[in-house]
Amino acid sequence: MTELSLAAFEAQWRPRLNTYLAENLRAVSDRDSLTAAIRYSVLAGGKRLRPLLSLAVLTAFDRPITSANLRASVALELMHTYSLIHDDLPAMDNDGLRRGKPTSHVKFGEDIAILAGDALQPLAFQWLADSGLPAEQVAKLTLALAQAAGPQGMVAGQVADVQGAGMHLTLPKLQQLHREKTGALIHYAVLAGAIQADVTADVQTALLAFGDAFGLAFQIYDDILDVTSTPAQLGKQTHKDAGEHKNTYPGLLGLEGAEVALNQALATAKTAIDRAERLSQRDLSLLTSFLTYFTN
Ligand code: IPE
Ligand code: IPE
Ligand code: MG
Ligand code: MG
Ligand code: MG
Repeated sequence: MTELSLAAFEAQWRPRLNTYLAENLRAVSDRDSLTAAIRYSVLAGGKRLRPLLSLAVLTAFDRPITSANLRASVALELMHTYSLIHDDLPAMDNDGLRRGKPTSHVKFGEDIAILAGDALQPLAFQWLADSGLPAEQVAKLTLALAQAAGPQGMVAGQVADVQGAGMHLTLPKLQQLHREKTGALIHYAVLAGAIQADVTADVQTALLAFGDAFGLAFQIYDDILDVTSTPAQLGKQTHKDAGEHKNTYPGLLGLEGAEVALNQALATAKTAIDRAERLSQRDLSLLTSFLTYFTN
């Protein structure tokens, strides 16, 4: 395949993902307030990193992106956006800014914000089910997304996050929390690409090792950015984690220690891509280019 950078891939696909979401959420509910709240959070922006990762796996394996692939990939963005709306609630992280705008509960009230999240979760499965992908792929994706988002995945991590606040978690416990709350959906993003690209089992294993290391790195970096960035840069409140007594990599290891841990995770991710390249005899430099996310 031709050499593609993350920036070029984003420039190519992020507008299409955004257009797809805008068009397909136009009349998502007969309840105007629910439609407004869903559209507000989903269309507020966001990097669209998870669907991009799924599409990048397909592209790296020279699979054309069909409208069915597109629908399945944006389904994950619905699930992710639900997790953000609920993460920001007063009972959770109590945040007022998300994707550069007031959070859903600030804008629509807690009741509608909770319900918008509630609606996005089944909608993600609906879009998988009616994506037009082969039935066998739909079944695999449905199971994998339920596992990633549910009580063994993202929600388990969120429980550890809120219950661990104010307590001192060990590094292995914190790593597990990060793998669950953030890594699980990123694991799914890569798995979804691998399922749709129909790669061999050994290649899939190597790709998932990449996804898991990328997912851990992503949350370590998010922790670091909370300390080093501004709301204008991130579109969400910063310098928030320490005040909420959250368990974070900078909190446990200091900023330099967190950066060392980040680089270790990135090295693991790179090793896994190298393995996937050897096993598949393909150039997977598009996936390698996703690691530049952490240097920008
Ligand atoms: C934020 O995710 C929540 C985490 C898991 C760290 P993103 O950083 O992907 O947020 P958006 O989608 O770009 O807004
Ligand atoms: C978010 O972790 C994880 C999920 C939304 C599942 P954070 O609470 O650190 O994410 P931000 O910093 O609010 O985006
Ligand atoms: Mg949180
Ligand atoms: Mg939060
Ligand atoms: Mg954070």
